[in-house]
Amino acid sequence: MPNRMPLPPTFTTAPNIARMYDYFLGGKENFAADRAIAEKIVRLVPQARTYARLNREFLVRAVRFLAGEAGITQFVDIGSGLPTQRNVHEVTQQIDPDARIVYVDNDPMVLVHARALLATDANTRVANADLRKSSSVVGHRDVLNLIDWSKPVAVLLVAVLHFVTDTDDPRRIIGELRAAMAPGSYLVISHVERRPEVDRAADLYRDANAPVVPRTAEEIAALLSGLDLVEPGLVRLPLWRPQELEMWPEELDAPLLGAVGRVASLCTGGG
Ligand SMILES: C[S@@+](CC[C@H](N)C(=O)[O-])C[C@H]1O[C@@H](n2cnc3c(N)ncnc32)[C@H](O)[C@@H]1O
Repeated sequence: MPNRMPLPPTFTTAPNIARMYDYFLGGKENFAADRAIAEKIVRLVPQARTYARLNREFLVRAVRFLAGEAGITQFVDIGSGLPTQRNVHEVTQQIDPDARIVYVDNDPMVLVHARALLATDANTRVANADLRKSSSVVGHRDVLNLIDWSKPVAVLLVAVLHFVTDTDDPRRIIGELRAAMAPGSYLVISHVERRPEVDRAADLYRDANAPVVPRTAEEIAALLSGLDLVEPGLVRLPLWRPQELEMWPEELDAPLLGAVGRVASLCTGGG
């Protein structure tokens, strides 16, 4: 049986980062407390909904690349969020019906939805683990049931590292994950970039279930050091292998950076 956690009593009244993101994406799994903060964020960053969509589109393009061109057959999506359209297993299984996917999140509310809507076949699982304790992800029973860490794997850290504070040390976490990943594996990240208006919006997350930590392009690049970045490297999300040749200036200027990096050789952690 999966490890189940009770939902906290405040789960409808306290703003929740996964439900706020769902609201930005136009989903329905959100409450008044989430919408109130999300609307304040939209007043500071009017393109917030566009940015959420760009993040999701980047994730889909990266997963298509990994399942197709890169030939990856197993995926661990950490900070997977509420089910939405074009979930990772739907994208991969269109390319490779045998692809295996484990969704990982530390939010019990997300896990309830994910178990109902995502873990719908033998090749898809949902695991309750906290990225900040990477060993709880790598060694999770439901992860080990589907993922063979001795073979190449794609680990997705999409729109989740900016919920990890410097105290929790995202570089350490990435180093530990890389140490578990076989050569030929891939890591995907997207991350919110520091800007004055983004910092003000991040302040509004103080009452939510996790803080937001925007980082500079240099700080985000440092998280990826030692990985072989596939073309075009670390870029604003719409510029990562775009399918559309025309983009709006507001999209090109999105304060969101992303990259796909290949683990080239065995690594002992720490970047
Ligand atoms: C903004 S959503 C991103 C969803 C999806 N990755 C995407 O990009 O579309 C962030 C998710 O990360 C999860 N999360 C935040 N901190 C986490 C942690 N320390 N461990 C696991 N999941 C975490 C949240 O619960 C939430 O579901």
